[in-house]
Amino acid sequence: MKRIVSGIKPSGDLTIGNYLGAMKGWADNQFDKGNENFFFIANLHAITVKQDPVLLKKRTLDIAAWLLTVGVDPNRSVIFIQSMIPAHSEICWILNNYVTMGELGKMTQYKDKSQKSGKEGQLAGLFDYPVLMAGDVLLYDADEIPVGVDQVQHVELSRTIAQRFNNQHGETFRIPKATLSKTSAKIMSLSNASEKMSKSESGDSYILLEDEPDTIIRKFKRAVTDSENKISYGKDKPEISNLLTIYSEFSGKKIADIENEYKDSGYGKFKTDLGELVAGKLSELQKLYFEIRNDEVRLANVITEGNSNAGIIASEKMSLVKEKLGLH
Ligand code: TYM
Repeated sequence: MKRIVSGIKPSGDLTIGNYLGAMKGWADNQFDKGNENFFFIANLHAITVKQDPVLLKKRTLDIAAWLLTVGVDPNRSVIFIQSMIPAHSEICWILNNYVTMGELGKMTQYKDKSQKSGKEGQLAGLFDYPVLMAGDVLLYDADEIPVGVDQVQHVELSRTIAQRFNNQHGETFRIPKATLSKTSAKIMSLSNASEKMSKSESGDSYILLEDEPDTIIRKFKRAVTDSENKISYGKDKPEISNLLTIYSEFSGKKIADIENEYKDSGYGKFKTDLGELVAGKLSELQKLYFEIRNDEVRLANVITEGNSNAGIIASEKMSLVKEKLGLH
């Protein structure tokens, strides 16, 4: 039996980067026999940057509804809210004593975010983010953590923390490993292919799951490309390679087949077709999403049941940890 655990922050609207890099894979891999899946909404991580409480609560439910929309099935996966399981905060404090400031200071995400957020935004919570994340996965004895490339460093640190704890106190945590989507572990920005697509960058650089068809088509038309006008995948063509990846993910076609299909076309046609393809798929998903989102009773039931199932496992692990440390 394998345990699969991963989370997503309700800190903004979801992009196709979140979808292709993480959520789609979560849904697709639920059918592997013997896997136990836990997917949660990381609202405690979200508050490492300022949030409007009303909006945060709404977005938490939005994400739960999106998980159901993309096919995460509550009969196959436990869907829960991080803040509703007190063990997440509790274990974070304990694990803080198994990691150094030096190790946390080396985290790329911390360096990037603290640089961008100015002195007032350099909160201790932002620094401690990876430790909360380690607790998220160690509580459940996770084997695999399906994430995008940007989170791999954090999962590596979770391994270090778990190993250190186990060495000092005997076998307590399973050692998790990050697993990446083969093709789309890093969807890049449409304006700058050297940066990941992210909701915290400028509006034209990302596609939101909730974007209107016209907006999607316009954003793809404006996507920055080189001047070669040749549709081919390769290291020296990061912009077109990114668009080919997105095309392939949304169409289910192989990249080589798409290259072949467009060998006599220029970027204009390719970008228009890509926009229409993604707009079409996302409008179908949006229709389903609004149905699911409007059924608040069902949504609440799914979450209550998920919280309860996750809570049982998390508190068992918490008891073991406290026992090991003489804290019980
Ligand atoms: P968040 O909400 O920032 O991202 C959620 C997931 O989406 C992936 N992702 C991408 N993948 C490919 N291309 C992109 N452009 C892109 N943008 C985002 C992220 O890698 C992530 O897998 N810290 C986590 C949330 C979290 C978590 C955890 C994950 C909290 N605790 C424990 C795993 C295990 C995060 O980045 O969320």
